[in-house]
Amino acid sequence: MTVCTMNIAVVGSGYVGTTLAACFADLGHEVTAIDIDEGVVDRLNRGEASIHEPGLDELIEEHAGDRLRATTDYDAIRDCEVTFLALPTPSREDGSIDASIIEGGARSVGEALSGGGNDHLVVVKSTVIPGTTEGTLIPAIEAGSGEAVGERIRVGMNPEFLREGSAVTDFLEPEKLVLGADDDWSHDRLGSVFEPLIERADPAVVEATVREAETIKYANNAFLATKISLINELGNICKEFGVDAYRIADAIGLDDRIGERFLRSGVGWGGSCFPKDVDALRAAAREAGYEPELLDAAVAVNDRQPERLLALLEDHVDLTGARIAVLGLAFKPGTDDVRNSRAIPVIEGLEERGATVVAYDPVAPAPMREHFPGIEYAESAAEALSGADGALVVTDWDEFAALDEEFEGMASPVVIDGRRVVEPREGLTYEGLTW
Ligand code: UGA
Repeated sequence: MTVCTMNIAVVGSGYVGTTLAACFADLGHEVTAIDIDEGVVDRLNRGEASIHEPGLDELIEEHAGDRLRATTDYDAIRDCEVTFLALPTPSREDGSIDASIIEGGARSVGEALSGGGNDHLVVVKSTVIPGTTEGTLIPAIEAGSGEAVGERIRVGMNPEFLREGSAVTDFLEPEKLVLGADDDWSHDRLGSVFEPLIERADPAVVEATVREAETIKYANNAFLATKISLINELGNICKEFGVDAYRIADAIGLDDRIGERFLRSGVGWGGSCFPKDVDALRAAAREAGYEPELLDAAVAVNDRQPERLLALLEDHVDLTGARIAVLGLAFKPGTDDVRNSRAIPVIEGLEERGATVVAYDPVAPAPMREHFPGIEYAESAAEALSGADGALVVTDWDEFAALDEEFEGMASPVVIDGRRVVEPREGLTYEGLTW
């Protein structure tokens, strides 16, 4: 079957937009990436990515200047059939989302499409609270274009499920595609965009309404975050019973209804998505008149895990004046992202207790220096452990599993593992958070 190629614009060249643009080009589409940052645009046109994702550099190098072009000019949208909006939706203080950036983008898209022309589908890719496309983004497109959405210009919603560190593979080998639209024409056009991917990877395709598609994204992340909090709560209970939570997780994961993935208990979830999305959903639910008690509890369990890690350390070490190594600063391995990393409350807790912190991470120190300019940063795990009165493992980097004689340099060899990555051994006082 011949697959038709399309002209696609992707507004926003952050982690989602850049991955999307490069992968669409790889599927054979003609792609224009639009961003207000000239540096990002120039780099893309030179064949370079502004973000790090395995496999992304190669795709951009291959397609830049050919099927992938970048510009700061929204007018490029006029020559396209579909525009994806992949702009940030940051959190406000109260956890609710601030849609003003994507609203501005929608208005600019509308302006670029004003004055007539070809049919156009505007697809919301960013994570937005159910009802935002209808209540905020459609009016913004209409304000820009000067015409009602629903005739020549239509909208769709296509949530993304990419994970940092495996965004390219997640895009090219998805388990599911959610195509949200409120009419057949829009569903068909959205389907055409993904046709090459559907042919190649055979994902489950979910045809949804726009509002359902918006909701699926939040439900997905809220479910996964709560699943981790549930295994963390069970893990805490296991620890009280003297039972290894990982053996329990392995057993319950064999039940298809539970599933074996996302059952690693430990110091909790972080990153740019789970905390923000769970908070936004809680705020929106409350605003709508519903008390999201289970999601509140999922957050409370997540907030408590770093405290439990510190309490376990305090069982062995008096923290006042102690030198404590923190192994791992990134919110998960394979990234330098420290947003909402569990290392943040762990380091804060150590500082509050009067400990001296020496931190090590294979890639993340630079961003963490902004949070904690006053702590020591070691060049290696061995250096962090040298002379330490205790160590906390916060990120499950593979290299921590290989640590061995490095522990011999500790002043008192106490390791509290928040990710089950260090191998217990003779001479080491080792405690797992949930085992
Ligand atoms: C998450 C979702 O997994 C993606 O599907 C979604 O697209 C993305 O958010 C998003 O909304 O953009 P990501 O934040 O990259 O992806 O990271 P995950 O790999 O899901 O890990 C999140 C956190 O959960 C990490 O802190 C990790 O250490 C923790 N985690 C994960 C556990 O503590 N235990 C587990 O078993 C799994």
